[in-house]
Amino acid sequence: MLNEKKILAIETSCDETSAAIVADGKYILSNIVSSQVQYHKEFGGVVPEIASRKHMENIVPVVRKAFLEAGCDLSDIDAVAVTHGPGLVGALLVGLSFGKAAAYALGVPLIGVNHLVGHIYAGFLTGEEVEFPFMSLVVSGGHTSIIYIKDHGDYKIIGQTRDDAAGEVFDKVARAMGLGYPGGPEIEKLARKGNAQKIKFPRAWLEEGSYDFSFSGLKSAVLNYLHNAKRRNEEVSFEDTAAAFQEAVVEVLVEKTIRAALERKVSTIILVGGVAANKKLRAEMALSAEKRGLKLIVPPPILCTDNAAMIACAAYYQLQKGRCSDLFLNAEADVELK
Ligand code: KG4
Ligand code: ZN
Repeated sequence: MLNEKKILAIETSCDETSAAIVADGKYILSNIVSSQVQYHKEFGGVVPEIASRKHMENIVPVVRKAFLEAGCDLSDIDAVAVTHGPGLVGALLVGLSFGKAAAYALGVPLIGVNHLVGHIYAGFLTGEEVEFPFMSLVVSGGHTSIIYIKDHGDYKIIGQTRDDAAGEVFDKVARAMGLGYPGGPEIEKLARKGNAQKIKFPRAWLEEGSYDFSFSGLKSAVLNYLHNAKRRNEEVSFEDTAAAFQEAVVEVLVEKTIRAALERKVSTIILVGGVAANKKLRAEMALSAEKRGLKLIVPPPILCTDNAAMIACAAYYQLQKGRCSDLFLNAEADVELK
C-alpha cells in the first residue's frame, strides 16, 4: 500500500514485554506479547524488580520477532511509539529507553502514549466503525475507569476506583483461595461451576449519581467469609464463592458503565483492559447494551490485555495531530490522561 504509515510500538508498563508493527492505525502486521507470568506466579503478584530485569532480557528478541512476523525492515518504520505511563517506572524505563534509541537511530518521530489511552484504542483495532463521542470502561489489574471520549485526544475520566482495581481484587481473592496468578482467569473457570445466588456479597454503589467504584469492601467480605468458615470448620464451596464474587464485580461494572453511556447520551461503549477478557462481564455488558440500544465493542482478549498494537493505534492518531514527544520524555508511575 502506498503512503501507509507504519508504526513500531513498544509496551513494557507491567509484566508483558510487547512490540508491534501496525500500518495506518488499523492493520496489525505483528503484535508480539511475551508474558512474564511464570516468574511472578510464586509471589502471587508482579514483582517490579523482576519485571524490569525480564524486560531487559526480552526487549530485543521481542522487537526482532515483531519485524520478522511483519516482514518489515527498519527502513519501513515511519514512527516509534512507546508507553511512558502509568505503570511500574522501572519496567516502563526499559521500553522507553529502547523506543527513544530506536526513534533517534531511525530519524523518525517518537510518540509517547498513555497506557490507558492505549487500552481504549484497542477498540479501533476491531474493524468496527467507532463513532464519537463514546464511553469506555478500562478495567484491568491497575485501573477501573469510565472514560468519556469526545474525540481523538479529548478524554475525560468520569469515574474510577477509589481503592483497588477490579483485576487486583480478582487476583487477591484468587490468592486467598489458593488459586494461581493471575487470578482472573482462575476465578472465571471456577465460577462457571458455581451458583452465584448461594452467597450474597455486597455491592458498593457509592453516592447517588457517582460513577466511581470501590472494591475493597467486597474483597474484605469475601476474605472474611472464607476466614470465618475455616475458623468454624465449615465446608466452603469455592465454586459458589467465585461465582458470587464475580457476579458482584460484574453487576457494578455493567450498571455504572451503561448508566454513564445513557446519561451522557453516547451510542457506543468500548470495553477494554485485562478484566474485559472475562466472559461473564462480556456477556452481561452485551446483554445490557443491547437492551438499551447501545453498540458495544469488545476487542478479542489478546487486544484487551496489555499489548503493543493498541499503543501503535493510539500513536497513529496522535501523529496525525502532530502530538509527538522529544527525547526528554520520561517514565511516570502516574500520568495525566491526554
Ligand atoms: O490489562 P492487563 O493485562 O494488565 C494491567 O494493565 O493491569 O490486566 C491484567 C488483569 C489481572 O488482574 C488479571 O487477573 C485480570 O486482568 N484478568 C481477568 C481475566 N483475565 C485477566 N480478570 C477476570 N477474568 C478474566 N478472564
Ligand atoms: Zn493494562
